[in-house]
Amino acid sequence: MAYIHLPKDWEIPASQVTDESIYEDRRRFLKQLGLGTIGGLGFLGLFGRDSVAMAGINPDQSSPYPAPLNPDFSTLDRPVTPSIITSKYNNFYEFTLNKDVWKYIDRFRTKPWQIEVVGAVENPGVFDIDELVKTMPLEERFYRFRCVEAWAMAVPWTGFRMKALLDQVKPKSSATHVRMLTFLRPDEAPVQQKDWFPWPYFEALSMAEARNELTLLATGIYGKELPPQHGAPIRLVTPWKYGYKGIKSIVKIEVTTSKPRTFWNDVAPREYSFDGNVNPYVAHPRWSQARERMIDTGEFRDTQLYNGYSPYVSHMYQ
Ligand code: MTE
Repeated sequence: MAYIHLPKDWEIPASQVTDESIYEDRRRFLKQLGLGTIGGLGFLGLFGRDSVAMAGINPDQSSPYPAPLNPDFSTLDRPVTPSIITSKYNNFYEFTLNKDVWKYIDRFRTKPWQIEVVGAVENPGVFDIDELVKTMPLEERFYRFRCVEAWAMAVPWTGFRMKALLDQVKPKSSATHVRMLTFLRPDEAPVQQKDWFPWPYFEALSMAEARNELTLLATGIYGKELPPQHGAPIRLVTPWKYGYKGIKSIVKIEVTTSKPRTFWNDVAPREYSFDGNVNPYVAHPRWSQARERMIDTGEFRDTQLYNGYSPYVSHMYQ
């Protein structure tokens, strides 16, 4: 991030862009018909098996995907970015410093996977990811995504609110923050063999941010399980913050009683704040944050304060 130039591999021809536009059109179609989640069962025969799934009725009882679309987050001011683009334009420094993470993930084992929740909580525990996706209230939400490098995309995440997990482990009254940690497996992630960075990647939120309505622990994207390059099997999504806050492939969540340090803020404090809130009025020392480039179309848009999520988050920063 701090050390790389922006490659041009987002310039994928429009002819290759099919799958997610179909995905989004189907969603829109069902929504227009008032079939956002469970409604309109009588009509489902018209749409076939796939559309039944898209309407939130799961035809494969063993899979939690696709999850019901949350109507509050079912539309955006921009089209969903096709997965063929987002799955080949990633930041995952454990594997490579370039965007072509998908080339380096063959050895990365994301199953089985457990996540430990510890610290200032009444009920610490170790959660198996398969159990979590079965027991937590999974939902799908379309969110804008803004990287600190001034590129942007729009993606349908599937996950559950971090608040739901915190409610289970019950933070003590002394708890102030939530710290998260990525795996450490140098044999699977080649850049973890180098001492260029303080591995494993670590991030943190205040307790209010962690419990915010928008804060998701995502286990899926585009109505399916997360692929490795997006941070399988579980990653953080905080759409009003720059992408670097969205720690991938989490193995540990620690509830703390003081403000933790964070990876990018430790590595380059002048460039990456703890908060990482999207703010068009505060330039990065090396580039403006006033505008953003959509990675699929190349179109430039004005960046919005808190990435357009002020109604949900501005109260936390007054
Ligand atoms: N998490 C880990 N563990 N390692 C990383 O290098 N990069 C961050 C974030 N989470 C990163 C990470 C950055 S800089 C961004 S922009 C997003 O992941 C990118 O998420 P995406 O590849 O799913 O678009």
